[in-house]
Amino acid sequence: MKKVILKKSGERAVLSFSQWIYQNQIKKYPPNIQKGEAVEVYSPDGRFLGVGYFNPESKIPLRILSFFEKKSLEEIVKERIPTAIQHRKELNINSNGYRVIHSEGDFLSGLVVDYYDGYLSIQINTAGMERLREVILNTLIKHLSPKGIIDKSDEKVRQKEGLPTENKVIYGEIPDRVIIQEYGVKFAVHLKEGQKTGFFLDQRQNRKVVANYIKEGFKVLDLFSNAGGFGIHAGKKGASFVKFVDISTTAVSQIKENCKLNNITNYQIVEGDVFDFLKEEREKGERYNLIVIDPPSFAKTHREKEGGLRGFKYLILNSIKLLEKKGYIAVFSCSYHIQQEDLIKVSIEASKDTKTQLRITEFMYQDKDHPVLLNMPNTLYLKGLLLERV
Ligand SMILES: C[S@@+](CC[C@H](N)C(=O)[O-])C[C@H]1O[C@@H](n2cnc3c(N)ncnc32)[C@H](O)[C@@H]1O
Repeated sequence: MKKVILKKSGERAVLSFSQWIYQNQIKKYPPNIQKGEAVEVYSPDGRFLGVGYFNPESKIPLRILSFFEKKSLEEIVKERIPTAIQHRKELNINSNGYRVIHSEGDFLSGLVVDYYDGYLSIQINTAGMERLREVILNTLIKHLSPKGIIDKSDEKVRQKEGLPTENKVIYGEIPDRVIIQEYGVKFAVHLKEGQKTGFFLDQRQNRKVVANYIKEGFKVLDLFSNAGGFGIHAGKKGASFVKFVDISTTAVSQIKENCKLNNITNYQIVEGDVFDFLKEEREKGERYNLIVIDPPSFAKTHREKEGGLRGFKYLILNSIKLLEKKGYIAVFSCSYHIQQEDLIKVSIEASKDTKTQLRITEFMYQDKDHPVLLNMPNTLYLKGLLLERV
């Protein structure tokens, strides 16, 4: 294996178990290194620190897969995949749809694998993982015996690594739809066309937590609803009416399909921009007992954080104006750069501006099959608050 030598700052990062090493933390790497090649990592004074893979074209050139132990990357993959599967078994997830491998969260930076009732949806997002494709697939097939595997690797992330994009069935067969259930609620997942790896599995527990606040006669507004996850759970818990809003035509047809699967009949779907919708809804004088705000990531980088917070303030403030007394707002951010304290701060501003008192009833996070590693802060990306109007 080729050798990469770190600066002192890089060594400190490895000693605190950071799996990501940046350009400015690297002292020296061989000039002829191949994109994604396996490397041994050393401190400035020659101490062995671990193994990983290297891509000089990437914003994160070095990703560590094993700390302080000399192993081949193939061996690491063969060990880590069954360990991750076993961890999911121990979590006792109440669903036949769950995340099997969560990149850094399972010590396999650059690899994401989701399980949908016997089928797998995978993302190989780095050049290093791409070189391990064969051993990854063979290990998944050995331990999970899937009926089919689809490659849904992320276009933007792969571009950053200088890789072409994949989106195709790579093993067995993938049906047009797979039905999963979570806590007794059914969802159709269209692996060939859905967003992300297929379904927003990370919100599973939060959909249940929020639905537990539904009382008889509640009117619910599900903003950025995607396939209707929150609204359909609410409908099953007895909400009298649900309005879904999403900008995507695919999402709209999935909401209809999922309402039908769950016998939800009293609903309306608005295909459009939530920001415009909120203004129009206020003018109409509509009111709701529970509003969910679950937008896509507003801040993919730290630089986008301020703009993202302005977006959140607008959404919370305008939702408060549509909220009945004793009503609830569930607000989520799926961006690492927007922390829970930031959501609290903008909620306080929206509360002051609307002269409305709010109580935090729940603090929410991604579900447990998306593990959070203490030493890798980016693994905690999804945060939410349930606010009650008091
Ligand atoms: C994080 S997903 C929501 C996941 C969903 N709550 C669930 O439980 O599965 C965000 C959704 O927002 C939609 N979206 C993005 N920008 C939008 C906009 N400006 N107005 C309405 N929907 C938007 C996307 O199409 C996507 O379905």
